Amino acid sequence: MEVIVTPTPESAASAAAQAVLSGLPAGAGPVLGLATGSSPLGLYAELAAAAAAGRVDFSAAKGFALDEYVGLPAGHVQSYREVLIREVCEVIGLPMAGLNVPDGSGATQAELEAGAAAYDAAIAAAGGVDVQILGIGANGHVGFNEPGSSLSSRTRLKRLTARTRLDNARFFEHDGDVPTHCITQGLGTVLEARRLVLIATGAAKAAAVAAAVEGPLTASCPGSILQWHADAVVVLDEAAASGLANREYYDDAARGLALAP
Ligand code: GLP
Repeated sequence: MEVIVTPTPESAASAAAQAVLSGLPAGAGPVLGLATGSSPLGLYAELAAAAAAGRVDFSAAKGFALDEYVGLPAGHVQSYREVLIREVCEVIGLPMAGLNVPDGSGATQAELEAGAAAYDAAIAAAGGVDVQILGIGANGHVGFNEPGSSLSSRTRLKRLTARTRLDNARFFEHDGDVPTHCITQGLGTVLEARRLVLIATGAAKAAAVAAAVEGPLTASCPGSILQWHADAVVVLDEAAASGLANREYYDDAARGLALAP
């Protein structure tokens, strides 16, 4: 795992974009794993700038969302499909036809579970995710994999924690409007992406980041799965890095592997 600490949220966005771009295969048609939330917004802006400068082309790219709420009407502004259209497709130029989001519209548990299984199959059919962009919740969640999620879980129906519903209430008119359930890529699904790039900024994420990066690999902190992945990059600003014990080494390691001191 590579841990990159930069001074500000802006410099973190730029470093994270670099980690994403260097993980994409040459040529058209990269497959991106997409996170919602405020954390990756600067990163998406940096990807847009790279596309505008001709350094990357997302016009034949595919995107796979991490998660979706269950039960929001089609076209609801807070459904993750609509959020990703606004915050990713229209920003970086990823075609809407290439955007895949778990189907949270099923009326029954069986329908929702069938949709979740189909989603994993669609990721596999696309050849897997090249780079999965991740944020982290204040409770350590990744996607909507709340603490206690199986480390080998697949895309599936889940109930949201009270904490996450409260955190996300700011996007809805009334607290009670936040859906109670979601479909989320499983931690096992996320781990199959060829590279993981997690971005976290701000002091509110410091404890979750410390647990994910330096705590035990445990279902109690879903973000700790990054420790199990062979190509994981964690990009932080100073505030989000403030709980890390091994900071000196991360800064040292960031100087690269050239053998000269
Ligand atoms: C949301 C999403 C996650 C996201 C997290 C953090 O609920 N399901 O994918 O990483 O919470 O959000 P933010 O970046 O806004 O803090």
